[in-house]
Amino acid sequence: MHLTAQQREQFDREGYLFFPALFSGAEMSSLHAAVPELYSRREAYNVREKGSDAVRTNFAAHLVSEPFARLARHPRMVQPVMDLFGEELYMHQFKINGKMAFEGDVWQWHQDYGTWKNDDLMPTERAMNVAIFLDDVNPYNGPLMFIPGSHKRGVIDARHDLTTTSYPLWTVDNDLIRQLVERAGGAGSYDAQGRHVPAGIVSPVGPAGSMILFHSCLVHASTSNLSPFNRVSVYLSLCAVSNHIRRHKRPEYIAHRDFTPIDCLPDDCLTQNYPVDLPWGEGMPASALETSLEVVDHSTPVSRPHTSQLRAA
Ligand code: SIN
Ligand code: MN
Repeated sequence: MHLTAQQREQFDREGYLFFPALFSGAEMSSLHAAVPELYSRREAYNVREKGSDAVRTNFAAHLVSEPFARLARHPRMVQPVMDLFGEELYMHQFKINGKMAFEGDVWQWHQDYGTWKNDDLMPTERAMNVAIFLDDVNPYNGPLMFIPGSHKRGVIDARHDLTTTSYPLWTVDNDLIRQLVERAGGAGSYDAQGRHVPAGIVSPVGPAGSMILFHSCLVHASTSNLSPFNRVSVYLSLCAVSNHIRRHKRPEYIAHRDFTPIDCLPDDCLTQNYPVDLPWGEGMPASALETSLEVVDHSTPVSRPHTSQLRAA
């Protein structure tokens, strides 16, 4: 799948692109079915909600589960990001966020690149977030909220929040959020039928199989899920190979250390059982838990240039 000129322009302006129902129900079913068993594992890569057994985030499923290993190589997801960066990509992070019915907690306002820069020493923002909905996302089950255009601010000063939720995050303070939302159009308006027309905060909602691409500097958050509907979504972070991280301060199951370019499978890979490697299929190696504050002097991996050399904003 390639992006049109209009989609590129929209991505540059707003910082995200939404593709409702990009994947079919049949394509999502093996992924959806694999989640309960992954979440049941008592492993470091399952981070549970504060004070609850519900899984908030499962990391690195693409290294232990065949359906997710195939999703990680899906051309419908990888190709548009390669086009935007003009370079091959590696998987920086792979999460299945639960946001389970009644239990899913908030994600505070943040930029993902803030964390990747501060913790992982990722040199620039040439990494893309991709969200793929495994459940339907509606206004009640804690959809993502974006501030359109906020990626244009670049990297914003952030505070390392270690207490609000079970997962540490570099968060943006409320005064700046207020300003950014105001600048993007505030609370929005109402049309003649009384329907809300969003402006400064938008929430893409849609059926399972929908996909969002969003800029790593786009400011985003989500509220808790008080509804009876699970909101399981996969978040993949695809990084330009030359922009690989320079420090392993976080465990490898969170911030990956294998910068090999992703080799895509055919487009029907979610309904056909193409063989895939599962490097952690027999268990996560102990080294994946090791961390260090040293700057790693990897020789820059060779990245094969991609046909389109256009760069993302
Ligand atoms: C994230 O920002 O990484 C996750 C947000 C969410 O799952 O709502
Ligand atoms: Mn995020």
